[in-house]
Amino acid sequence: MTSRILIAALVLTAAIPALLMGGVSGVVAADGKPGPALSGPVVSSGPHPITLDRPAEATNREIVDDVKRVRNYADQPPLIPHAVRDYQIDLNVNKCLTCHDRRNVEGSQAPMVSVTHFQDRDGQTLGTVSPRRYFCTQCHVPQTDAKPIVGNRFRDFDAVLSTAPAKEGAK
Ligand code: HEC
Ligand code: HEC
Repeated sequence: MTSRILIAALVLTAAIPALLMGGVSGVVAADGKPGPALSGPVVSSGPHPITLDRPAEATNREIVDDVKRVRNYADQPPLIPHAVRDYQIDLNVNKCLTCHDRRNVEGSQAPMVSVTHFQDRDGQTLGTVSPRRYFCTQCHVPQTDAKPIVGNRFRDFDAVLSTAPAKEGAK
């Protein structure tokens, strides 16, 4: 009796992989067509086989001309006009502050971070740069000469003002 149960259990165990395989090969896509075979060599479906080396596309040049950029509105974080590659910002080091911190601008001749960078969220001005302004590149970004991927209808405030129709009855 026990040996029969044992044999039955063995047969079942042996059948599990076959059952699984059966399930896999029967994959059907949502549109009802049979799905791709899940066994055999993996073949890239794109125009470029994954084994082919493609030359890397040219990267865009960084703008590092040290020229201040116009801010699109008064409280826009100014764009960075110099290289920032490998400038480390972490718990121990903030490369940006080695030039832009209050005490370091005489040596670097960099513009000092403005007073807002010393304020905490309650508007209290602290003695050092506030933690919420510590990760500079969260707000300040360098630029490249890349062409914009999508169009942009942004208009400067002054341009909007000069073309706005005079309001009826406005004094
Ligand atoms: C070696 C010194 C140095 C370091 C390090 C440095 N900067 Fe500068 N930064 C300058 C100087 C000098 C200028 C003035 C323009 C110029 O010469 O490029 C400047 C300009 C800027 C400006 C433009 C300010 C404006 O009014 O338009 C921003 C923003 C800026 N830096 C952010 C950063 C950030 C963010 C980092 C770190 C990722 C950084 N800088 C690291 C020296 C430095
Ligand atoms: C949360 C966004 C934010 C972070 C983080 C931040 N800034 Fe700014 N930064 C601004 C904004 C907005 C301005 C412009 C208005 C102002 O001064 O608050 C500015 C202005 C500046 C200016 C121009 C100051 C002036 O008076 O012309 C410099 C330089 C600068 N930031 C450097 C830094 C550096 C260096 C760090 C990192 C230690 C940093 N910022 C972190 C948002 C940020």
